[in-house]
Amino acid sequence: MRWTFCGSVTEAVCVLAGLRSSNLSDQSKTTIVGAAPEGASDPQSAARAVREMFTSIAPRYDLLNHLLSFNVDRLWWMRTARNFTHILAQPEARVLDLCCGTGDMAFALRRQAGKAPPHILGADFSHAMLQRAGDKSAGMSMRWVEADALRLPFSNSRFDLVTSAFGFRNLADYDAGLREIVRVLRPGGECGILDFGEPRGLVGKLYRVYFKRVLPAVGTLISGVKGPYAYLPASVERFPEPPEMLERMRRAGFPEASWTPYTFGIAGLYRGRK
Ligand SMILES: C[S@@+](CC[C@H](N)C(=O)[O-])C[C@H]1O[C@@H](n2cnc3c(N)ncnc32)[C@H](O)[C@@H]1O
Repeated sequence: MRWTFCGSVTEAVCVLAGLRSSNLSDQSKTTIVGAAPEGASDPQSAARAVREMFTSIAPRYDLLNHLLSFNVDRLWWMRTARNFTHILAQPEARVLDLCCGTGDMAFALRRQAGKAPPHILGADFSHAMLQRAGDKSAGMSMRWVEADALRLPFSNSRFDLVTSAFGFRNLADYDAGLREIVRVLRPGGECGILDFGEPRGLVGKLYRVYFKRVLPAVGTLISGVKGPYAYLPASVERFPEPPEMLERMRRAGFPEASWTPYTFGIAGLYRGRK
């Protein structure tokens, strides 16, 4: 295993060279690994529960996002977008933001692109979330499509860049999600998956109190919906740790996958090139 540190600890880039496939247990090779909201018994019921959950919180999603992250979410989207300036600077490039929700990652990509933005498309399977994205982008040349990330309605090799912010973790099958991303990327195309992590040390201890106790309570109170904000910490706990996620990315077709932690590892960006 090789860890390359570039400057500060938060900029540490983990490049796991030579992590053998045997590091994934035999069981995990055959078992589907993905999100599993309470009560879901298979990938189909898990996906249905996830869609219903986000649809139920769509009206308050943005407010709660900014409030519960103390607005750091904006910084994470911006940092993610900055990593892909070389693609966003090409007006002919095709960009897909998967699990786009109300569109904030897609908007960050567009802002980073400047005056001649590429074609940016947001995809999500919750109609209610997409409606809000549409309202927020009135007058802008943004396009939104209702689609399941595990069965994308796009031909092979269509995109130069695929991003996903805080959405990938909710897929009912992470490997199938990665394979779909690889399929729709052109050779040499890039992907950026921004999602939560589990910070370690003292920061991790303090953060866990906030994330597992305060956040679910406040989220439930403001959204008026019981469930989604308890699911959030559970889904992060279930999500593979960086070494395993990187191994899954390599297997899917991103040979030099890397991970950069953001804000003590509370979030982090996975990157890959097809
Ligand atoms: C936590 S939100 C993230 C939204 C947005 N990217 C952001 O950064 O705020 C997760 C989104 O993923 C979507 N999602 C989850 N599973 C999906 C799937 N299989 N196909 C499409 N969208 C999915 C949900 O509907 C939801 O809008």
